[in-house]
Amino acid sequence: MRIDIVTALPNIVRGPLEESIPGRARKKNLLDVHVHDLRDHAFDKYKQVDDTPFGGGAGMVLKPEPIFSCIESIMEEVGESVDEVIFLTPDGAVLDQSLANELSLKKHLVLLAGHYKGVDQRVRDKLVTREVSIGDYVLSGGELPALVLVDALARLIPGVLGDASSALTDSFQDGFLDAPCYTRPALFREMKVPDVLTSGDHRRIDEWRDEQRLVKTRERRPDLLDSANERSRTDN
Ligand code: ADE
Repeated sequence: MRIDIVTALPNIVRGPLEESIPGRARKKNLLDVHVHDLRDHAFDKYKQVDDTPFGGGAGMVLKPEPIFSCIESIMEEVGESVDEVIFLTPDGAVLDQSLANELSLKKHLVLLAGHYKGVDQRVRDKLVTREVSIGDYVLSGGELPALVLVDALARLIPGVLGDASSALTDSFQDGFLDAPCYTRPALFREMKVPDVLTSGDHRRIDEWRDEQRLVKTRERRPDLLDSANERSRTDN
């Protein structure tokens, strides 16, 4: 999978992409990430990438020319094989596991991180194929949301996670939250790991985990159970 991140603040995204699962996916050549600095596509000698909004109002708006130039140069380089140009914005469809699963099947994504007040609407009308939000709150820009999306996708690429099943057992992957997990020591400050987990009986361990997942989901996110029930009703 290839992901191009287009941003006016490339330093925010560069460091985190070296680390953890996205870093591992890149080192294994399973994920190819390119970061583009919009300033390299600015048209004037001051390298201006934003301007005041027509009609007045607070904040600055990202100008269309550098964004068109940057995204068109990516398309020229790869022969127009870009599957989606995704703009990260609180206006977009809220990212959830099923959207992450869907996007993880794409070969090439361009992620546009807006900053300041937003981007010129012509970019959204002509270049952007999808708008994605990472939740109902406003951040200063789309760089952290772009990293969130890259992380959610990287862990779904086959071969990235050591244990082939671990992405499948993540919270949300089947609509349930995860069971509690423990590691050594089995007794720590008088807090003991549940006996079932040290019993070696894998059938009982699976049953215990399923039960815990159900209890936790019922307690914390009953809405997830409602949508799982809804899905099974429409599937049958
Ligand atoms: N840009 C600013 N806030 C955002 C959010 N919640 N999701 C995606 N992009 C954003």
